[in-house]
Amino acid sequence: MTRTLDLAVIPGDGIGPEVIAEALTVLRAAVGDSVEVHETRYPLGAGHYLATGEILDDATLDALRQHDAILLGAVGGDPRDPKLAGGIIERGLLLKLRFAFDHHVNLRPTRLYPGVTSPLSSPGDIDFVVVREGTEGPYVGNGGAIRVGTPHEVANETSVNTAYGVERVVRFAFAEAEKRRRRVTLVHKTNVLVHAGSLWQRTVDRVAAENPDVTVDYLHVDATMIFLVTDPARFDVIVTDNLFGDIVTDLAGAVGGGIGIAASGNLDPSGAHPSMFEPVHGSAPDIAGQQKADPTAAILSAALLLRQSGLDEAAARIERAVEHDLAGRGNAARTTGEIGASIAEFVASST
Ligand code: NAI
Ligand code: MG
Repeated sequence: MTRTLDLAVIPGDGIGPEVIAEALTVLRAAVGDSVEVHETRYPLGAGHYLATGEILDDATLDALRQHDAILLGAVGGDPRDPKLAGGIIERGLLLKLRFAFDHHVNLRPTRLYPGVTSPLSSPGDIDFVVVREGTEGPYVGNGGAIRVGTPHEVANETSVNTAYGVERVVRFAFAEAEKRRRRVTLVHKTNVLVHAGSLWQRTVDRVAAENPDVTVDYLHVDATMIFLVTDPARFDVIVTDNLFGDIVTDLAGAVGGGIGIAASGNLDPSGAHPSMFEPVHGSAPDIAGQQKADPTAAILSAALLLRQSGLDEAAARIERAVEHDLAGRGNAARTTGEIGASIAEFVASST
């Protein structure tokens, strides 16, 4: 029997639709006839909001819930547009999806592929993944402000860390490490954020005791910034909270060859809700509509989607094709479509 993969596709704004088109071409080439791929498109994003006033209504959320996985390009308009102020799309769409679908693992692999230039002069062999908690920390909106705009203003943003929430993400990190080089680094600031830090450290210690073949390491987040620049090859799996993860992943993306290849997955590993895969970059209004965007990050996000869907071989085919393409890229300027087509062709020839 042929297996089906029922995808919700949110192309989004700016370069989103351009890179998603290539990601889908490559994904289809990678699975070939073995999987029947269904695509349902959802026109969400800044453009949709400005045209209709709608960001993400409950009916759309329920429709999205029915799919196996979500592939998202990028959403967001011109950051200077006052109608989009206050992160309305980020909170109303991206964060809403993350919380509604319990995307508690944000997975971001960083690998310096041969042929890709890192801004580091001697980067070494960079190949690690960051497992960032996605539904807790200071991002839950547990805060408030009083006396706003007066000299006596009080502004609080409380970081929420639950034993349940920390444990599931730590367990995910150890499971990843078992598939890789068996090294987990907890990144936190346990010396200052003592309450949350203690919960994270004790949870890691407990799970570590169950996984004696995994080497465990701890780094303060500030020291992590140093090592990501001086010795990024030391990392295999980094596990960290929502806020530290946000920062760590941006630096990781930069040392790993940049925004054009950084992929991510927002996962509910329990499978109760669809996971969502997207390039790390945004909608890049400065180059939108010009076929200048590098679709590689979106293509690698499609590979993460396939792996999460249990289609490991198809995922590996995409990764090998990307590796091949990057190694031969040089400085020749190619369009978004040309890069996508060339990766899809290599994928098809390797099936
Ligand atoms: P951005 O990632 O869109 O662009 C930053 C710079 O990187 C720009 O110079 C852009 O041209 C370049 N760039 C980005 N992706 C590229 C690609 N695939 N190939 C070649 N160059 C690429 O970030 P920016 O400018 O801060 O945000 C633009 C819009 O995107 C905003 O509305 C922002 O809110 C939104 N955004 C959305 C995200 C998402 O959908 N998850 C993530 C980040 C930003
Ligand atoms: Mg960020």
